[in-house]
Amino acid sequence: MQELETQKAEALAAIAAAETVDAVEAIRVAALGKQGWVSALLKTLGGMTPEQRQSEGPKIHAVREAVTAAIADRKAGLEAAALEARLAAERVDLTLPAPEAPKGSVHPVSQVMDELAEIFADMGFAVATGPEIEDDWHNFTALNMPETHPARAMHDTFYFPEMDGEGREMLLRTHTSPVQVRTMLAEGAPLRIIAPGRVYRSDSDATHTPMFHQVEGLVIDKGIHLGHLKWTLETFLKAFFEREDIVLRLRPSYFPFTEPSVEVDVGFTLVDGKRVLGGSGNGQDGGWMELLGSGMVNRRVIEMGGLDPDEWQGFAFGVGVDRLAMLKYGMDDLRAFFDGDARWLQHYGFNALDVPTLSGGVGVRA
Ligand code: PHE
Repeated sequence: MQELETQKAEALAAIAAAETVDAVEAIRVAALGKQGWVSALLKTLGGMTPEQRQSEGPKIHAVREAVTAAIADRKAGLEAAALEARLAAERVDLTLPAPEAPKGSVHPVSQVMDELAEIFADMGFAVATGPEIEDDWHNFTALNMPETHPARAMHDTFYFPEMDGEGREMLLRTHTSPVQVRTMLAEGAPLRIIAPGRVYRSDSDATHTPMFHQVEGLVIDKGIHLGHLKWTLETFLKAFFEREDIVLRLRPSYFPFTEPSVEVDVGFTLVDGKRVLGGSGNGQDGGWMELLGSGMVNRRVIEMGGLDPDEWQGFAFGVGVDRLAMLKYGMDDLRAFFDGDARWLQHYGFNALDVPTLSGGVGVRA
């Protein structure tokens, strides 16, 4: 009993002394969490005689209630203080005259997608789309990843609890590659498309968000080879970064849906310690940055798209749009892209009239 009182007093003192919501949360977990000491005390009730339980039960429950209440109080207090501080720091003076013309701006991701459409339209590519809620046939199987394929596990897929009418597992697409098969099936060959859009993976840190953007490229025609792929990527990246000295390095890689597969690196040069794309990629003041995945479309994928792989060949590539935006416009935290903070948009956003054109430049800032 004495021990119970001491434990309670210690816990209450620790709660009162906690300086942050996180610290209070740590105390909560240590006390009331599954492995917490209060939870352990509650479990001892099960092994007591009815008489013991009658005398000890109320005491243990009282400790739980006291600790729970103290934690809630302290959290509320700390949160209120944090809000006060924020309100004081971010005050808006409503007596000031209204801003002249409050205006929105175009998100860098939208701007980059417009830039991509403009650059690829000039090379004869149309823009294709596909659903973000996909089935596992289009997202995996048709891309040469049958059910047991290990690459499926690498995608950190968000699945839906229910299947579709045809018994296919439903998911949020993990890449834009399913649009390859959808477009082949819908339009046949020859094809030249890009497919920009949202993709989803269960992953989150400074460079990964659960939703991000990719653009897929697909060319299907007769006699297509790796040289066409390299030229297309080189032409695209030179136009996108508006530099003639963009140098690419193709490294052998593996994707189930391309064979052979190549990872594409771009050479960068160090300028004042910062990586600037362009330059040889070699030597002390430069290096290579991994940029995108690509390859010659696997025969089996062409078949899944309803085409004869002896007649039609092609190449495909996939690249992160957010990543391209970060590299071109110099943001370093991907999470800020999706915070919806008006100040960030004010800084990084584009003027709605600043439509990218090849003649006017695809990289002009608002
Ligand atoms: N879909 C691949 C990914 O998300 C990228 C890719 C696309 C690779 C097309 C090759 C060809 O990682």
